[in-house]
Amino acid sequence: MELLKKLTECAAPSGRESKLRSLIETEMHSCCDEIYTDALGNLICRKNGNGKKLMLAAHMDEIGIIVTFIDKNGFLRFSAVGGVRDYNCVNRTVIFENGTRGIISFENKNKPSGSDKMYIDIGAGSRAEAETLVSIGDTAAFVGEYAELGNRVCTKAADDRAGCYALIRAMQQGGKTDNDIYAVFTVQEELGLRGSKTAAFSIKPDMGIAIDVSSTGDTPESVELNLKLGEGPGIKIKDSSYIMHPQVRDFLIDCAKKADVPYQLEAAANGGTDAGAIQFAGCGTPSGTVSIPTRYIHSQTELIDTRDLENTVKLIKTVIETELM
Ligand code: CO
Ligand code: ZN
Repeated sequence: MELLKKLTECAAPSGRESKLRSLIETEMHSCCDEIYTDALGNLICRKNGNGKKLMLAAHMDEIGIIVTFIDKNGFLRFSAVGGVRDYNCVNRTVIFENGTRGIISFENKNKPSGSDKMYIDIGAGSRAEAETLVSIGDTAAFVGEYAELGNRVCTKAADDRAGCYALIRAMQQGGKTDNDIYAVFTVQEELGLRGSKTAAFSIKPDMGIAIDVSSTGDTPESVELNLKLGEGPGIKIKDSSYIMHPQVRDFLIDCAKKADVPYQLEAAANGGTDAGAIQFAGCGTPSGTVSIPTRYIHSQTELIDTRDLENTVKLIKTVIETELM
């Protein structure tokens, strides 16, 4: 899991994905015919084929914060980049692109509250000192330790570095077919599936599949969801961004059977993936999502099962090797 550790430890909040992009580019060189970065920053890795176009997408960006104001004492005010929950901010550490670290705290120490009542302490004593380290509009990612817990991994940004990992490994292991494969590592998913929208627009795939994390229903008193950790990748029929095209649903189920991989059907009330944007490409593109079951999504301690991850690699490898009709 050395590669997964490297991917999750990289800081790449939405809009500032370049460090992670170079890391992924290094991994992808050996297994692609063509690699390029588009105008928004999506990394597009193509394995040429004469057949139909298959777009596979995993997003590079992670949630974070953006600086909105610096007060006279050097404290920063901020707003969220993506779906940051207030209770996941308190007493957490963030890291800026230049390495500056800050601690998030809140005004009334007895009463945790919304981000408008929170601030970041970067150790500066004045506005002038703070401004030597950060500027308005700078983004930072959360800091989280990578830890292996038996078969499970606890880390920040499993959303969606787990998906990036699965896509990299599947491309490295996948054999050649007639499919024209586009492995796309997208930007700005957490801000509303923005990168995948433009990537899909330019590629015009015949089918699109996103690989992303999805919430489980297997913790005490949690909402009732079918997904459980350790029981295989999810085939996501629905979330709030799309309903999976029946052709893609059948294709993914067939591939799971062919790969001899356990899978879990999933219909979620909330959330969205790049598949929600890909479906609108061209005159409409059948799209779907393979999900990696994950607990505590959008915290610094997301929890995944490595067996699910390896089964996702197997499934995506089979998807790559199965000719689209
Ligand atoms: Co997310
Ligand atoms: Zn995600």
